[in-house]
Amino acid sequence: MFDANDIKADFPILQSTMNGKPLVYLDSAASSQKPKQVIETLKQYYEYENANIHRGIYYLSQKATEKFEKTRIKISNFYNAQCAKAIIFTRGTTESINLVAQSWGRKNIQEGDEIVLSIAEHHSNLVPWQMLAKEKSAKLKFITLDDNFQYELSNLNELITERTKIVSVSQMSNVTGSIYEVDSIIKRAHEVGAKVMLDGAQGACHLPIHLKKLDVDFYAFSGHKMLGPTGIGILYGKEEILESMPPWMGGGDMIETVGLESSTYASLPAKLEAGTPNIAGVIGLSSALDYLTELGLANIHNHEMNLMDYTLEKIAEVPGITTYLSSNREQRSGVLSFNMEGIHPSDVGTVLDEEGIAIRVGHHCCQPFMKNYGIPGTCRASFYLYTTYEDIDIFVESLKKVHKLFSKFAKV
Ligand SMILES: Cc1ncc(COP(=O)(O)O)c(C=O)c1O
Repeated sequence: MFDANDIKADFPILQSTMNGKPLVYLDSAASSQKPKQVIETLKQYYEYENANIHRGIYYLSQKATEKFEKTRIKISNFYNAQCAKAIIFTRGTTESINLVAQSWGRKNIQEGDEIVLSIAEHHSNLVPWQMLAKEKSAKLKFITLDDNFQYELSNLNELITERTKIVSVSQMSNVTGSIYEVDSIIKRAHEVGAKVMLDGAQGACHLPIHLKKLDVDFYAFSGHKMLGPTGIGILYGKEEILESMPPWMGGGDMIETVGLESSTYASLPAKLEAGTPNIAGVIGLSSALDYLTELGLANIHNHEMNLMDYTLEKIAEVPGITTYLSSNREQRSGVLSFNMEGIHPSDVGTVLDEEGIAIRVGHHCCQPFMKNYGIPGTCRASFYLYTTYEDIDIFVESLKKVHKLFSKFAKV
């Protein structure tokens, strides 16, 4: 049985207060909280196991190396990747996307080539491609959204053409929570010989993923959104593609031999992992994966969908709410963006903060999305495995307070 109340008990921070009220944490799309199991793993590592990896012949170093490399295998199995060598550790989704743009992109994108993104991308899947396009005089093209906050697929053949070299889009929106239909994008891109990268920052922590079946060329995600520590992320790439890419950073660990004038490089995955990595982050992420495995991503997703049904039912009692959400239940997740008529999102966020409720307000690093809908931003409540029905009740009651407070001002 999936019981969010039991799960919540594993998260020390969720037992705390904010502004004197019990903390209601509704900002998991920005970063998840960490269970005591992950915190304990980090403590254990720093207290008893800390050593650098891949270079010591002493026990501690070998033990740390073993834990580090076992996590690579665990991640590969968890996401059904091609092989463990195809899992590259980075600092997060942002770094993973930059790695592809700087290494694969610089080698393969030439003047006049086209890069296809969507208008709903997080800045981290937009700016690295803008930088590359500028450097190479390449062209950016954009998939739009339909009335249901889904990728508009009707003009895919005109958007993705023989000139397209890579398509990089999000698998799940951090603004609307839309689970995008990406299969036809991947199929079309491969038909014209283009590569596909999915930004899995939101997808990897909420949806069961089968990377081989998805047939995606690159997949990027972050550990901190899936119960793991900050500063650790993953780039998955098909082995033969990663193999063909030049290193993007030089330094220790990524070399085979080094001379004064030139060097030869290590094979995968070391070639793309220069310097001392975030060893504790990787080992902490391993513990996060154990936690998620025990519960199952499919059960977590199901819980979030039920919570969303409940939230939508309750929030209908609050006057003047506009939501930005798919009308198709199957395309929704645990992210709800909304605005309150006549009230700025920052004001909503400030009042909720006083009530002990953490939501995100603003453009959510998606300024082009906001511009497209002619809004300055939204309020965003986002759920995870530890979000309870009681949290939603407190949230909705507080929105009623916000409405009451601001309608009083409006009358003055
Ligand atoms: C869809 C999406 N892409 C990319 C990112 C960037 O992730 P990070 O800051 O962990 O690199 C985020 C973070 O919120 C996101 O939601």
